[in-house]
This record gives sequence, C-alpha cells and structure tokens, in this order.
Amino acid sequence: MPLKGLKIGCLGGGAMAQALLTGLINAGIPAGDLYVSDTRRERLTFLRKELGVHALESNKELVESLDIVILAVKPQVVADALAETGALFRPEQTLISIAAGITTGFIENFLSRGVPVIRVMPNTACLLGAGASALCAGTHATLRDRERAMAIFTAVGRAVEVPENLMDAVTGLSGSGPAYMFVILEAMADAGVRVGLPRDVALLLSAQTMLGAARMVLETSEHPGRLKNMVTTPGGTAIAGVYALEEGGLRVTLMRAVEDATSRSREMSAGLK
Ligand SMILES: NC(=O)c1ccc[n+]([C@@H]2O[C@H](COP(=O)([O-])OP(=O)(O)OC[C@H]3O[C@@H](n4cnc5c(N)ncnc54)[C@H](OP(=O)(O)O)[C@@H]3O)[C@@H](O)[C@H]2O)c1
Repeated sequence: MPLKGLKIGCLGGGAMAQALLTGLINAGIPAGDLYVSDTRRERLTFLRKELGVHALESNKELVESLDIVILAVKPQVVADALAETGALFRPEQTLISIAAGITTGFIENFLSRGVPVIRVMPNTACLLGAGASALCAGTHATLRDRERAMAIFTAVGRAVEVPENLMDAVTGLSGSGPAYMFVILEAMADAGVRVGLPRDVALLLSAQTMLGAARMVLETSEHPGRLKNMVTTPGGTAIAGVYALEEGGLRVTLMRAVEDATSRSREMSAGLK
C-alpha cells in the first residue's frame, strides 16, 4: 500500500476534503495519520469530531507536518493558499491539487524546484465512494507520487491517468457528467410518471437501472453496443424505445454537451492563469 505510514492531509476542509478523508479512513488509513486545515473554525471542529482527524488552524503547520498535501480549496483561492505555503513544500513530499482548471505549471511557480505536483479532476460521486477521477503528473512527479495519488483516488471510486492536455476533456465528461446523468434520471422519472407509475417508483427504477447498466459495462468489460444488442429482441419493446432515442438525437446531444463543457473548461482555465 503506497500510503502506509504516511501523513496525509487536506488544505481546505470542504465537501471534497471530507469525502477524501472519509474514503481514506474506509480504506484502512488510521485517522491519526490524517490532517485537515481550514480558515473556518466550525469546519475544523466538525471534521475533528466526525472523522477523528487532526484539524489545524494553520495551513503552514499542515504543510510542514505532512508527506502528502491535497490542495482542496476553490480554484479562485489557490494562488492565495500557495502564496502563503508554497515555499514550505519539500521535494520528498507530494502535492496533489484537485482545484478545477488550475494547471500543474501554475502551481509549480509557487514551489521550490523539485517539488512533485499531481493534478486530479475528481467528481461529486467521490462523496459516496463512487467517484470518477483522472490524474496527471507535473514536471517533478515520479512513479511514487503517481502511485500515491492513484491510491487516494481509488479509495473514493475509480481513477485513471491522462496527459494534462486532456484535463479539460475530463472536466467536460466525468467532472460535469453527474449533472447530465441527473437530467437524464429526472427525465426518465417524468417518463415513468407519464406512462402511469408513481413518481417515487419511477425514480427508484430509473436510478437503479442507470446504476445496473453502468455496473454491467464496468464489470463485464463488454462494449455497451453489444450489451444493448443483447436486450433488444426483434420487434420488441427495447428496440422501439431505442428508435425513439435515435430519432430524438440523444447521441449527438450528449456528444455536444461534453464538447461544450470541455470548451467552457478551457475558457475558465485560461481565465484563472
Ligand atoms: N465538489 C465537487 O464535486 C468537485 C469536483 C471536482 C473538483 N472539485 C474541486 O475541489 C476543490 C474543493 O471543492 P469543495 O467543493 O470541497 O469546496 P468547498 O466546500 O468550498 O471547500 C473549500 C474549503 O476551504 C476553505 N478555505 C478557503 N480559503 C482557504 C484557505 N486560504 N486556507 C484554508 N482553507 C480555506 C473554505 O472556507 P470558505 O467556505 O470560508 O471559503 C472551505 O471550507 C475545488 O478546487 C474544486 O474545484 C470539486
């Protein structure tokens, strides 16, 4: 386990930090090895009480004490947080940033030479341990740093490594993807109501169907087209539904959603530089 015996913490103790710390505890990391710092005292009290982690008021103390620091503040605050702590990072540490749109190069400008940086784009389902995260390595990150980050993000879901120039595409697909899936689920529930089902029943069946279909793709490694073919009998109900989806342009609409979100991510990261 690449995290065994290491001190790990989050600079910024918001929703994502809470999800990551919870995932690490569930993965067997002792709460005594986990840290968090935040400007809000009530968040620190809550996280100390809820998770049993060390909660520090000082970002500097956090950075000085840890092997792995996860930068988990909003993108707009990253420059301030790094102006305060950047000079304290040492090359034997790993700095992992989850701030959307902030590049490894931007972060490295605040650090001494040789400090390894990993950038990660997680998504909101990390809160339930079902996240989809992509990570990329900065200039000085080694296999050790990539393995550390992979271990952290597989504790809260699934994780893959991509080149940094694909991080906007990841933001458009899995970063923003939960929103598309929520819209689809709401529409499926409306559809269920339209054909006579009570709303709670329609929503439960829709959500469980999405979960089941996703698990079939992930756990069988079958192509989704083949799985679709397996459930569409000649002249049957599923193919009648699929025809309506094709007529409504669902595929192109989803492709356009991902493309537009990717372009928006590019524009926003350019604005943060
Ligand atoms: N939530 C998601 O689904 C998601 C998905 C992908 C990526 N991310 C990324 O994850 C990062 C954290 O997101 P989040 O949703 O967890 O945000 P959040 O809930 O706002 O958490 C950030 C926390 O850091 C505190 N903070 C602000 N400035 C600070 C400073 N200088 N030093 C220490 N703490 C400070 C904030 O306090 P105040 O509230 O008082 O400012 C807040 O408690 C963001 O960069 C976001 O882009 C989030």
